[in-house]
Formats: sequence, structure tokens, C-alpha cells
Amino acid sequence: MHQILLNNNIMEYKIKTIGVLTSGGDAPGMNAAVRAVTRAAIANNIRVKAIFRGYKGLMDDEVQEFTTQDVSGIIQRGGTILKSARSDEFKTPEGRKRAYNTIQKEQIDALIVIGGDGTFTGARLLAQEYNIPIIGVPGTIDNDLWGTDSTIGYDTALNTIMDCVDKLRDTGTSHERLFLVEVMGRDAGFLTLNAAIAAGAEAAIIPERATLEEQLEAAIGQGRRKHKNSGIVLVQEHAIPGGAQAVAKIIEEAHPEYDTRVTILGHLQRGGSPSAFDRILASRFGCAAVQALLDEQRSIMVGLQNGEVIYVPLTKAIKEKKDIKDDKWQALQVLSL
Ligand code: F6P
Repeated sequence: MHQILLNNNIMEYKIKTIGVLTSGGDAPGMNAAVRAVTRAAIANNIRVKAIFRGYKGLMDDEVQEFTTQDVSGIIQRGGTILKSARSDEFKTPEGRKRAYNTIQKEQIDALIVIGGDGTFTGARLLAQEYNIPIIGVPGTIDNDLWGTDSTIGYDTALNTIMDCVDKLRDTGTSHERLFLVEVMGRDAGFLTLNAAIAAGAEAAIIPERATLEEQLEAAIGQGRRKHKNSGIVLVQEHAIPGGAQAVAKIIEEAHPEYDTRVTILGHLQRGGSPSAFDRILASRFGCAAVQALLDEQRSIMVGLQNGEVIYVPLTKAIKEKKDIKDDKWQALQVLSL
């Protein structure tokens, strides 16, 4: 319920219409989340207005009412049917005023925003400035949001990277080459470290752990001692300036005996049909986001902790830093020996 002051009386009114948008980098499973939000809301007699192109569409009034049919046949589709965008204008007070104008015009009582860190930062400001109930649904392949063990899209991206590395190992082993594989993740190494464990890589170079020299010694020095002449090293895109190309250059200078190759996986990591895990996660998150609004919650993110769906304050999800697990880092060191 919203509370409004009318003729000095506190009046309460139900949330009648919610807006839903996807913003920032797309992630497999976002469509499953849009489907869940739409169907859970309609099941509770709440109208759904789909906002296209994220905050840009909110500012430009790119809005369409959705029925349950509008989200038919999308659970298996990668990307986002709502489109996505990154908007600099929304970062300004003027941009957010334009967004609020659309919210008023479309009679939207609350928003569910599906995205990552940048999406939630914008949501928090809009909620503060215009007193709008907003619920965040974590959708990013980076898995870098505090308060949830997994974000929508992370599991699918991990599997995509693992499949690619498996294929690179076939050719790398045949030609006795060292492959430096660049992995996305913005500032976080979750994708890189976990894909390295899953694919049996020789090393992972991530921003959160050790120096580059130490990590290279783990990757190259140990390999040489064991007379390994091929291998796979996963390099987080921002672990060092220049990413995997820069690491290859350092190795080629120090160890000319290695025949190195670089593969930048790039945006293929964001595509593809969502895994069962991501479809289920997105479906649970979408329903939980609607339930949060019914329970009069605001400015929170839905998350997954120990298998349970929980709610955490948006502020904490943005500001707190999620750590990579020590046991995983240790496991990679031991298992790549
Ligand atoms: O946040 C998702 C992500 O794919 C990051 O891993 C990556 O650094 C970034 O988005 C790439 O952004 P863009 O699609 O704008 O190139």
C-alpha cells in the first residue's frame, strides 16, 4: 500500500500498476524474469507496463502495457525482449525528472528494475528523489552484486565460457600452445575463477588475488617444471591494462619457448539460451519482486542465499563488496599443479 496525505487524512491505496525494465548489460534469463514479473503481477490484479530500452525508454516514454500473452514463448530466449541501454542522461537530475514525468503520465505506482550495479544505482536515486517503491532484480553475467549468491545470467555465461575453453584446449593441446583467454566480469573475477576451475585451467588472473607476477609464476613456472608445454590461462578483462594481449606479451618476452595464442571471448559470453538454473532463478526472483511490492517493501533487491530467496537493501547490494571464496582460489592452485 502507498500512503498519501489527503485533506489531512492518511489515505492508503494499493499498487495498481507496476513498470518493469531491463537495463545495463543484457544477461541470459532476463526474459524469464520479465515473464515472471508480468505473470505474477497480473495474477495479483496488478497491471504491468513494460518499459523499453531501460532508463532511456523511461525518459522517452517508450511504454507498453503487457498481458500474459506478451511474455509467451520467451523463457528460453537469451537477451531481453525489452531491449537494454546504458544512459548517461539518467545519471543527471534532469534525466531522472524526465523519467518521473513518464512514471506520472503512465500512472506507474512502482518499478521493478532488472539489471546490475549501474541499474540499481540509478534506481536508488530515483526512489530517493521521487519517493517511488522500487525493487531490484539482479541480472548480470558478472555476479558482482553483494547479497546474492548468484545473479541471473551468471550460470549460463559460466557454462558458455567453459564450453569455449574446452574447445580451445583441444586445439591448444594438439599444437602444444599456451592459450590466454580473456573473460568478462567488469571489476570482478567470479566468472574467470569459476570458469577456470570448471575447465581445469592452469591459472586464472583476477583482480582480487595476488600480483600478476605471482599469478604468472603459478601459470608458467609450475607448468615448465612439470614440462607442460600447453595450457590455458584465463585472464579477467581488467586484471591488468591491456587484458589477455598484455599478459601474452609479458609471457612471450620472459618465456620465448612458449607458443602463445590469445582468445578474447567478448560478447558471446552474454548470449545464448539461459540454463535451467538461470530460468528457475529468474522465475523465483520475478515472483519474489512482485511479492515484495505486495508486502509494501521498497528499495530492496531480491537475492539468493543458501538456496532461499531473500531481500537485501539496495544500498547494501551496491556498496558492499562481494568477495570471492578462498577455498575456490585454493582449489584452483592445488588442482592446476
Ligand atoms: O556487466 C556486463 C558486462 O558484460 C561486463 O562483463 C563487461 O565489462 C561489460 O558489460 C561490457 O559492456 P558493453 O556491452 O557496453 O561493451
